[in-house]
Amino acid sequence: MINMAAETWNVKDKLKPVGLDGISDTQIDYHFDTHYKGYVTKLNEIWSKLPGVDLTKANQNYSDLREMKLEEAFNYDGSMLHEYYFESLSKEHVEMPSSVKEQVEKDFGSYENFVALFKATGTAFRGWAHLIFDLNCGKLRVMGADIHSASAIWNALMILPLDVYEHAYYVDYGAKRAPYMDAFMKNVNWKVVEKRIERAKKVYEAFKKE
Ligand SMILES: [Fe+2]
Repeated sequence: MINMAAETWNVKDKLKPVGLDGISDTQIDYHFDTHYKGYVTKLNEIWSKLPGVDLTKANQNYSDLREMKLEEAFNYDGSMLHEYYFESLSKEHVEMPSSVKEQVEKDFGSYENFVALFKATGTAFRGWAHLIFDLNCGKLRVMGADIHSASAIWNALMILPLDVYEHAYYVDYGAKRAPYMDAFMKNVNWKVVEKRIERAKKVYEAFKKE
């Protein structure tokens, strides 16, 4: 038994985007209501059972604690990534602020270089392309993930996640991932991206070694 109260994670309904350019409300409904809420439901189920798990039975081949911790990571990462994803999208066609443009040009050479790498990574991986802020060296980096709970790098903060699992686009584009990624880029809320980079830079200043 773990002597602690069960945690809960709340669904953030206000993050659900509507009226996007090239990603339909029906597609978003499936993605938000089935997939995102499914992660949150299972995360809460695991968290409600975790305080009662028998720690004396911990075992690396099979044990309740091992299975719960593996699926806790899967569902917590799934919940968190989808919240970053949905919050990144807006129907307003938000322009990229100059501070984001400067950072992208510094770390990727140009906006075109970044988009080419981001979309190619979204083609090369099965689940996600991620723009992250790397606290080890204070720069933006693009990483891909097949399984979202096992493909992160340490000391990195999420900036812009591009969900390329089929469930993110099959309603609108069938098996065609490329036009979905173009539509995604058209809907990015760059003000949200700017806020995340500003926050990450503050963390980096506090985090960096002498
Ligand atoms: Fe998804």
